[in-house]
Amino acid sequence: MQAEAEPHAFASFREGFPALRAQTYLSICDKTILHDRVRASINVFLDHLAMASANRKDHEVHVASAKAKFAGLVNAPAETIAAIRNVSDGANTIAWAMPWREGDNVVLTVEAEHPNNIYPWLRLKTRGVECRMVAARSDGGLDIPAMIAAIDGRTRVMTCSSVTFAPGHRSDVARLGEACRKRDVFLLVDGVQSAGILRHDFDAEPIDGFVTSTSKGLLGLYGFGFLYASPRWIDRLEPAYLSRPAVIQGTDDHSAMGNFDFEFQPDSRRFEVGSFNLAGAYAADASLDLLLELGAERIEKRVLSLAAALHEGLTAIGLPPATPAGGPELSHIMTIGKLDAGGHGFSNDPLIGPLSAHMTDGKIVHTIRRGQLRLALHAYNNEQDVERTIACVSEGLAKARQASEVK
Ligand SMILES: Cc1ncc(COP(=O)(O)O)c(C=O)c1O
Repeated sequence: MQAEAEPHAFASFREGFPALRAQTYLSICDKTILHDRVRASINVFLDHLAMASANRKDHEVHVASAKAKFAGLVNAPAETIAAIRNVSDGANTIAWAMPWREGDNVVLTVEAEHPNNIYPWLRLKTRGVECRMVAARSDGGLDIPAMIAAIDGRTRVMTCSSVTFAPGHRSDVARLGEACRKRDVFLLVDGVQSAGILRHDFDAEPIDGFVTSTSKGLLGLYGFGFLYASPRWIDRLEPAYLSRPAVIQGTDDHSAMGNFDFEFQPDSRRFEVGSFNLAGAYAADASLDLLLELGAERIEKRVLSLAAALHEGLTAIGLPPATPAGGPELSHIMTIGKLDAGGHGFSNDPLIGPLSAHMTDGKIVHTIRRGQLRLALHAYNNEQDVERTIACVSEGLAKARQASEVK
């Protein structure tokens, strides 16, 4: 019965996205699209604001609820999750909470990371912390053995993205995490590209920190996100910024000052600073319901099966993606063309520019990153999206080749 119910569940999920009626959306790696139920939840918040019909505590129920639902999605205890703004906020929070000693280092693959998970670590130079930069593989994936080999007795942190924003390999977080655990190194994962799309299980994955915004696969808003900090580390992490919710007071009153001799919250609440992005919390509270209804495992299975079909179709028309066709590094992101043959939004590859223009005309929403044409799937995509995309790319390819022959 479940096999029959599944396509129906995905089809009705898809129905809720107005943006999908007019286009094929393959750009969740760039930004989210709004589901009707998420929009309705934000509207509830706006109505309350307009009518002055709720107070801070009423609104903050949605912060707690969104955190608990995210915890459910990633199989972590609710108290390990803090509400934050975005990846930058989360990475900086961990960077400044670590008990550094001068001469310590952090290991990362700069070429594979988003700048927002690089600058927080470069900033630590003022505390005498070295950024130990490991080279990526020639295909842009993480060189896992080299990252592990870079760990020494002064390494405190390793960081990587769960899926690179380009070219889009899924990282072997488990292998990195195991190596880190052996040496008591904190593994921080920038999970914004995988959260809500690929399955996470923090009880099983040997990671110590995870940061994400809700502005991509979690289907929420910009400026609201989650930080996970492992109970193994929490007592060693002291927040750089402090305000009322992060300390134990014996009361929940926002404006009640307690002891000057304060104690941090025993869990990830110690990282929460001041008032929350409440619109973001209302959005996430609803979008996480949608994701939990489908289930993390089913979402990943669906997305990876569409990704494999897209990869196969592109390969069959003579345009094999630069990302793997299968195996553990296959993700929902697929890139075409030579890595770094251009940058953000442009490519010097004579094929990619015209192909991208043709796809835009064909209403296939995509992006160009690091000079590569980038496509990304979520659980709202379906087989027709894959077929349309392959047909459009095939046409665009023929047109671009014809044009280059004429020249
Ligand atoms: C891997 C990765 N990290 C971080 C970000 C953005 O960081 P922030 O959430 O701080 O805006 C992006 C945005 O595209 C990304 O792809």
